[in-house]
Amino acid sequence: VRVLIASCLLALLAGCDHPSSDAGRGDPGAAPRSAPRQGTLQIVSLNRLQGLGDPIPCQPGDIGVLPAAAELRDRLAATGDTALLVAIGDACNRSHKPLHGKPAETANLARCEVELDALAACRPDAYVPGHADLATGFDALLARCEKRGLPVLLSNIAAPAHAGIRPWIVVQAGTLKIGLLGIIAARVGDPKEPEVEAGQKPEPMEVSYPGASMLPVDETVTRLVGELRGAQGVDLVVLLSSLSQKANSHLADIKGLDVVIGSADVGFEADRIVLDQVTAFMSAAPAGREVGHTTIAIRNGNMQMADMSPTHALVEQIATVEERMAEYSQRFGTDDPATLSRLVAPGAEQGFLNMVALLAENKEFLKVHESWKDSYIDHRPAELEPVDPGHPALAIMAGQGAAIEAALAAASFRPLVVPEGTPLIPKPEDCRACHAAQYDFWAATPHSRAFEDLRGEQQIHDVSCLECHAAGFEKPNGWSDPRFDGPFGGVTCFQCHDVYAPHSVSARQVVDPQFVHADSEQMDCTACHIPRRDPEFDKDVSLPAVTCPPMRADEPALLLARQGVLDALAARGAKGVTDPRDDYLQGRALVGLGSFEQGYAVLERYAKANPEDTHLRVETAQLFDRTGNSKGALQLLRDYLQTHAGEPVSNLAYITMLLQARDVAVRDPQLALSQITFLLPKDALESRKIALDFRVLQVDAYFAAGQPDKGLALINELARDHSGDPRLRQRIARYLGQ
Ligand code: HEC
Ligand code: HEC
Ligand code: HEC
Ligand code: HEC
Repeated sequence: VRVLIASCLLALLAGCDHPSSDAGRGDPGAAPRSAPRQGTLQIVSLNRLQGLGDPIPCQPGDIGVLPAAAELRDRLAATGDTALLVAIGDACNRSHKPLHGKPAETANLARCEVELDALAACRPDAYVPGHADLATGFDALLARCEKRGLPVLLSNIAAPAHAGIRPWIVVQAGTLKIGLLGIIAARVGDPKEPEVEAGQKPEPMEVSYPGASMLPVDETVTRLVGELRGAQGVDLVVLLSSLSQKANSHLADIKGLDVVIGSADVGFEADRIVLDQVTAFMSAAPAGREVGHTTIAIRNGNMQMADMSPTHALVEQIATVEERMAEYSQRFGTDDPATLSRLVAPGAEQGFLNMVALLAENKEFLKVHESWKDSYIDHRPAELEPVDPGHPALAIMAGQGAAIEAALAAASFRPLVVPEGTPLIPKPEDCRACHAAQYDFWAATPHSRAFEDLRGEQQIHDVSCLECHAAGFEKPNGWSDPRFDGPFGGVTCFQCHDVYAPHSVSARQVVDPQFVHADSEQMDCTACHIPRRDPEFDKDVSLPAVTCPPMRADEPALLLARQGVLDALAARGAKGVTDPRDDYLQGRALVGLGSFEQGYAVLERYAKANPEDTHLRVETAQLFDRTGNSKGALQLLRDYLQTHAGEPVSNLAYITMLLQARDVAVRDPQLALSQITFLLPKDALESRKIALDFRVLQVDAYFAAGQPDKGLALINELARDHSGDPRLRQRIARYLGQ
């Protein structure tokens, strides 16, 4: 389900309201013009490539974006347009935060150098490094760029020792002259908000590089725009920026700046242009997920450019909404919007009618655009084509593994230093004794091979692979030296369950869920299954393939482990040593051993003795439900809510239980509904995120209580603001079969 965005009618840029003669104080050099300004500039932009230029090994068949972007530039140039390839922001490195220790940094640097070589082989027209790139060594990085002929464009860094740094680049397109500037954040700290107001968190840090000074962004851009439009006689100024979208917007106040390409914002994708006053902003998703393709076409001296970007997104949006409308018409047997609004969205009729009106407006809008022949600006994700396997950049990048091996083989690193302290990251073998069935299941999934697969690619020491392909890398008390050969395995139990080593060795922790966390709902698969690595990933679809078999109540190993806990508690008790949590552990062990009545009684007593502990209450209730005591579970939560009526965590558990209790007899969707209604209007819930947790359950409650109309209307309402929320998508699939 896509949500319509209201689009304004043909929006115009007015790049022409500052003729170059105005800006040009002392402007003797500008040539007089005769022919009308006319030309087409194509810019292919890599936004914060972060070392991901190569075809990524996780997706055999993937196109390497860097060489593919270079070939696109060449194809565009072959049509006679002026075509540029620009790399904006960090092209080789991902974070300016140092990795743990020298070997990891060395591996990273070796990889980075290969990426720069590959970039140079693609002959970009401008490279605007970001702070993470510069943090690999300011002088060394710039020297490497100079050696490789990489044109570094950094308008707001003054570094006298590096004459190769350009404050601007001027290009010609037809009879047009275009100036390019390249801007880096003046401060770092939070790369997303490099320009946050002082006093706000997190505090941005001034950056400094030896022999260089950072120039203030706004002043520098103002000055250089004046120079470009003046002495240089340019018609259009394009800024290549790795600032946040918010910081870029500040620049809209600067007269004479026409176009800003690039942003540090992850969510700013290449399907739209944002107009702010007379400046147009656009970007492309970073990390190789998208390559931006901008076209600036000026016809007959008309510098007012129509924004063509809606034509890309609108086609799909219109199709989606039309499809939905057709479905409604078919289901309800009418085309009449007013009637449909009452049937489809009772209580939200106006919203439905607005959607219908917007659809008509958008279709009109699209027609106007498609007939446009005059000056325009357009921006979209580039359509890349597979490159010749012999492309020089590909050949260079294939040497990454070898370059890392060579760097790590340097004599100065030997011998290996064994990490100090007790590792907290468990090995899967540590779990096998008690969870044999789960171990065997896991061992047959690709996750168990994740580390060995790096060996196949000869990238076993590449730190940029280890974060997803090896357990515990760069984790506190984990593993930080890539020269160790994958000490904790591939994608192991730890990554999904968040279970630390003590759970498998200490009697106390064997039954203490403090160390046994993360149910499937909480597992963060998308930390690794990111779109770039796994574009089709859908957690709901993939989950069954990795869901270990449940523990069996009668498994001897588990019974023994629980008995061991009881024995240990008894032994400690005999010595007079007690711990406040002993009752809790005893209760859990008893329940696990099948002494339910006894166990529940201990746990109930313990919960009541800790009347303020929300998590304990919820945990205990969930254990009750899981082990067949749903009634007791509801009672525990109800008692708690007597004194904590608006508390969100326990309410969420309570309402979830009313809808999904294992014992179907205690479910009560009607009560769940009234509890949600009681909570929501009173603003008892602090944040919108929490409110959404309840709204999604409200959908379930409506359907379970036999009120599907209200459920449907609520889905429509929620989809307007939260169409991407996975829980909502799940409900849409469940109730609308889409
Ligand atoms: C952000 C997480 C992430 C990083 C970083 C990462 N991978 Fe992967 N990798 C994945 C995921 C997820 C898959 C599974 C993709 C799928 O099957 O669709 C995968 C799959 C693979 C595969 C199996 C492909 C096949 O044949 O099916 C190989 C080989 C691989 N990665 C190598 C690497 C190498 C080499 C690196 C470092 C250069 C790396 N990966 C970095 C997440 C990552
Ligand atoms: C000495 C035996 C033992 C070992 C070794 C062990 N576990 Fe457990 N594990 C248990 C017991 C017993 C339970 C059930 C706890 C309870 O009943 O409260 C359990 C529960 C779990 C649960 C489910 C928790 C829940 O609340 O649903 C997970 C997940 C788990 N263990 C993962 C692991 C992992 C990962 C390892 C390896 C690091 C491991 N276990 C090692 C005994 C063990
Ligand atoms: C890719 C993620 C993933 C990995 C890796 C993984 N598991 Fe699981 N495991 C799951 C999921 C999902 C469930 C179902 C839990 C749920 O529904 O809350 C599960 C269930 C379990 C359970 C049963 C819990 C219960 O309540 O009955 C145990 C025990 C367990 N896993 C142990 C392990 C062990 C031991 C390993 C490593 C050898 C491991 N898991 C690796 C995803 C994973
Ligand atoms: C620590 C990183 C990491 C996490 C967390 C993770 N995965 Fe994976 N996953 C990988 C890697 C890496 C591979 C590829 C392994 C290989 O083939 O070398 C993979 C492969 C898979 C595969 C097989 C290939 C495919 O895409 O069809 C499935 C299914 C899968 N993961 C599902 C999940 C699910 C579901 C979760 C969350 C419960 C999850 N993974 C969590 C890294 C991860």
